[in-house]
Amino acid sequence: MAQYGKTAYWDERYTKDPEPFDWYQRYSGVRDLIAQYIKKEDNILVAGCGNSRLSEDLYEDGYSSIANIDISRVVIDQMTDKYKEKPALTWQQMNVCSLEFPDESYDAVIGKATMDAVLCGEGSTANIAKMCSEVSRVLNGSGVFFIVSYGVPDNRLNYLENDDYAWTVTVHTVPKPTVSATAVPDTKDANSVHYVYVCQKGAGGQVAE
Ligand SMILES: C[S@@+](CC[C@H](N)C(=O)[O-])C[C@H]1O[C@@H](n2cnc3c(N)ncnc32)[C@H](O)[C@@H]1O
Repeated sequence: MAQYGKTAYWDERYTKDPEPFDWYQRYSGVRDLIAQYIKKEDNILVAGCGNSRLSEDLYEDGYSSIANIDISRVVIDQMTDKYKEKPALTWQQMNVCSLEFPDESYDAVIGKATMDAVLCGEGSTANIAKMCSEVSRVLNGSGVFFIVSYGVPDNRLNYLENDDYAWTVTVHTVPKPTVSATAVPDTKDANSVHYVYVCQKGAGGQVAE
């Protein structure tokens, strides 16, 4: 879907449909994994936030510092207005491939369905490299890039496992919400799961206490 890589597409979509929408997973679907890697007091950046409830849900669950960026000016204006009573949530129009933050300013960057959008359209390989390089730059020495994606490891790890970022990448799966809660999800079947790629800087494999 080449249009997912275009700002004009997202501006038009959010203008036509400003109702909150969560791609792939609601917070409840990834809550335990987020808690495993990200601490409540961490400085968090949600990249490609859209009008998902993720940031609000993180805040309600005790995460105290959540910056949000999206390439769409339209959705950033909507979210700024919607959450004006919650100063812990900040909103800025920004490209995840060209972040306007200082080096090492975040403990965690969360991108839910954002990598998949950046992978759409022209120049996708170069854009993903820029995204990873920028996320790596703004993460501190023990920082975590938490990615939720529909893409199978064969199509994603080649972008993430790069010596330039020196990330330790751990792959998790979460059942798609449409899959029955009683069915056992087949973790090898991309039709029944979403993938969570946790890219850790520093000594790999550490989890939040
Ligand atoms: C598939 S939506 C996911 C929205 C939200 N994260 C969610 O999970 O519901 C992708 C979002 O990424 C944004 N986006 C696309 N390319 C971007 C870029 N280069 N920088 C920042 N945001 C981008 C789009 O505007 C859109 O809001």
